[in-house]
Amino acid sequence: MTALTINLTSEQKSLLEGKAGPAAQKAIQILEALGKIYGAEHMLPVSSVQISGVSYDNLGEAGLEWLAEMAAGGGKTRVFTTLNPSGMDIENYQALGISEEFAVHQRRVLAAFEAMGVVTTCSCTPYLFGNLPRFGEHIAWAESSAVCYANSVLGARTNREGGPSALAAALTGVTPAYGFHLDENRQPTLHVIVEASLNENPDFGALGKAIGDRIQALLGNRVPLISGVEEASLENLKSFCASIATFGGVALFHIPSITPESAAHQPPAETLVINQSDIDLAKSDLMGASADEVDFVSLGCPHLSLREIQRIAQLLEGKRVKKEFWITTSRPVKGMADRMGYTEVIEASGAKFATDTCCVVAPIQGRFKAMATDSAKACYYAFAKNKFKTRLLPFDDVIKEALQ
Ligand code: F3S
Repeated sequence: MTALTINLTSEQKSLLEGKAGPAAQKAIQILEALGKIYGAEHMLPVSSVQISGVSYDNLGEAGLEWLAEMAAGGGKTRVFTTLNPSGMDIENYQALGISEEFAVHQRRVLAAFEAMGVVTTCSCTPYLFGNLPRFGEHIAWAESSAVCYANSVLGARTNREGGPSALAAALTGVTPAYGFHLDENRQPTLHVIVEASLNENPDFGALGKAIGDRIQALLGNRVPLISGVEEASLENLKSFCASIATFGGVALFHIPSITPESAAHQPPAETLVINQSDIDLAKSDLMGASADEVDFVSLGCPHLSLREIQRIAQLLEGKRVKKEFWITTSRPVKGMADRMGYTEVIEASGAKFATDTCCVVAPIQGRFKAMATDSAKACYYAFAKNKFKTRLLPFDDVIKEALQ
């Protein structure tokens, strides 16, 4: 359905007329065009924004020029806005082998965002440091794993925005009312029955891949209602969200007892059963490398919680890693790790914090042969983008792999 017009408020009309400057005008034009494509009847105020397309490795010069133009056009955020990971650790990029030339470009990207009032904290887990919407709040987030987490675990409402539409929402404070902002599109459309035991992040990542692959290959877009998942930690859920979004393009699922609005829904008639052999097959697909081949180890896709960093410190205390080992997290969580003494322990082992960035968006294509990780999403992109073979292992085993 395509609406011919969108009902704009007088304030939104004044943005369209350019009364708040060219950047705000461009922003509302983008949102109006998007709303018309998807049949939105009006705009909705958003309480927070999370912007993707931050790494210069993905943006390139054309993307940077667009950001600089929006900043020069007087763009200013109207709501709390944070960023997805950038292409480098802003304070410690040299230790990660990132060139000075790349750093110059990456700093220009961040300067453009900063000029527009964006909080330049670069992370895919903004909900771990204060960009934490409440149940029912409308937001405009871009990172697929965070979008899935916000919709499915927090019960906030967001479509998966692109970089430009998220920035446009930040500069106007609104987003078109369509997709997952509306009740009718949040109904489950597929009942997934899980008959498998799920304990560690790779189990949840494999579940996301098993469901996601089936949705992509056989079914098309679906909102799954997932039965049979009794327990999941915050860390399991962020891993699952990253995986089901990567492999199935899923932005919203319902798990009874986890998804705040799931009680309002009955299981749909269309059913998919995922059993232990589906989980094992999904894992084996992501195990292309032998232990001997691994020359790179990375934890933190999505960005690590403080609890995960604490565990890394426990397992690395008094030991030396023998491989390049990146610990990826947000700067605020790293700050807590510093205060708790975890950073000192981890860095004494030779492992490196890769704060503000990750093993996928940093410019490291072809630099390593094979990567060990606990993240199904990281395995997918390590191979697809960076041409690394992969080993998907439980969290503690990833750390052991770094020590061998
Ligand atoms: Fe986050 Fe990078 Fe993974 S953005 S979800 S750590 S690919």
